[in-house]
Amino acid sequence: MKGKKRLIGLALVLQGLGAWAEGTMPCATRLYSLPGQQFMHKLVTHAGETVTAVDFGPVTTLSLRDDRLHVGNRYKYVAGLAPAEEGEYSYTVHLRDAKGKDSEVKVQLTVSRFLQSPTPSMVWLTWNWFAREISHHKMVEIAHGMERCGLIKAGFKTILLDDAWAMPTSDKAALTYDPEKFPQGIAGLKSAIREVNSELRLGIYSDAGTMTCESYQPGSYLYESQHLALFDSWGVDMLKYDFCNSEASSRESYSRMGKAIDELNTRRRAEGGIPFVYNVCEWGSTQPWLWGAEAGGSSWRTTSDAREDWVGNNSRPGVLAGVDETRRLWMYAGVNRFNDLDMMCIGLHGLGGPSNNTAYHMSNGGVIRGLTDAQARTQMSLWCMLARPLSLTCDLRDAPRAEANDGAPLPYPLITAADVATLTHAGIIAINQDPLGQQAEYMEAVSTGADYSGEGYDVYLKDLSGGRFALAVTNRSQEEMEGIQLPLADLYLGTGRWTCRDVWSGTEVMVRGTLSTGRLSPCETRVYLLTPKGRKKSQW
Ligand code: GLA
Repeated sequence: MKGKKRLIGLALVLQGLGAWAEGTMPCATRLYSLPGQQFMHKLVTHAGETVTAVDFGPVTTLSLRDDRLHVGNRYKYVAGLAPAEEGEYSYTVHLRDAKGKDSEVKVQLTVSRFLQSPTPSMVWLTWNWFAREISHHKMVEIAHGMERCGLIKAGFKTILLDDAWAMPTSDKAALTYDPEKFPQGIAGLKSAIREVNSELRLGIYSDAGTMTCESYQPGSYLYESQHLALFDSWGVDMLKYDFCNSEASSRESYSRMGKAIDELNTRRRAEGGIPFVYNVCEWGSTQPWLWGAEAGGSSWRTTSDAREDWVGNNSRPGVLAGVDETRRLWMYAGVNRFNDLDMMCIGLHGLGGPSNNTAYHMSNGGVIRGLTDAQARTQMSLWCMLARPLSLTCDLRDAPRAEANDGAPLPYPLITAADVATLTHAGIIAINQDPLGQQAEYMEAVSTGADYSGEGYDVYLKDLSGGRFALAVTNRSQEEMEGIQLPLADLYLGTGRWTCRDVWSGTEVMVRGTLSTGRLSPCETRVYLLTPKGRKKSQW
């Protein structure tokens, strides 16, 4: 402890002399928290660098922990309670590289009750079912469907109008809604969905370029404040901001809108309103996890549009490819800063379109092939484990029709009881919405140094509030898998006893040493909630 204090003292002297270079870290350095809430920040360094100390300044409730240096993904981390008072805080991470050169990184911590999205947003979007064919009437029917299926109660509280809600024109100054689709205007739509359920909110879509991705309606670049004022005047509370036909760099474009949203939120707060939420939809091409928070967003797409496929590939990511591509971005997620994996395909049953390209029945002799129930549960499990925004796009109407496709006859009911059970499962949603805001780490076994994919499965571990963990095991293959024995010491789970609840089935057992999964069905993900047993309540 003494040595540590001396090191921090020395750090401060050197910093005062301006002796340390400004460094960088491959992890989030712009953090957020609600006041007094449990907080965690994983300090991942460049290869060969170590964290020598953290100078917390006046923040007395956080400390540097080093108990993960020899397990799992190996890093030091900051944990504790965020300051109880709202405000802008910072702390300085001191680093030393392999040659003994020192540098420092300043971390900014905003503590506020008025964060855009402290936990991942839960939204229903129009795009992959309705495409351009959206209307007031259909949205009201969707609101009723959300109510009927229990989705609003489960936490899905926003309906977002994706591309093609506006009058088709390229004149940015003339942006307005299409009165044929929305005869009562967007404000009228908001009132109508709130009559269905007063908790419902409305989101909208625009683009940082000349035109949206459909090249159908104008984008908002250089018209950010004007367009945002319009959305605000209609009672809109969220923006999905796309990046087709762009006119400037992604960072500049998104920062311009971010600044406008920041100003709007300052006003909303003063007036007792709710925060406006900003989703950056740049598809991962310029690594928005490095700048999305700084540009004012609270989530950013990390891949191109998700496809209703088990595997897919990088440009057309199915369930596995999308997750594989982004599972090592866990150190960039946190409260109010989430990596977005696009809309889930649950409930599309092979009939979605157009980005989903799920209309396999057209190229498949009319045979409808969507995700199986196990694949759908895996999609939900992984989106929750990875703290992804939960976005839906399935047709929840009483009498669904394949709008975006060829009007082919649909199975009835389209949304099955299994879909609803998957999408409203309180246990899995609680993992997504855990207030610590951590994305599950893609795990490597300490004993072998390798991940588990060579064995045909993946292991994910998510830090939860209260010193709990969620552990997921995904069977990647389309074959049944023998039971897996997971030594807990290979993860962060040591030798203690854990209450282990199988989240999907609800069964609970006590584990110590090794966790046995039992047989896994094809493409199944088993998710466990692990609560420490008989140990000091918490590390916080
Ligand atoms: C892009 C986005 C999609 C959708 C369409 C609309 O492809 O990634 O999610 O918004 O544009 O045109």
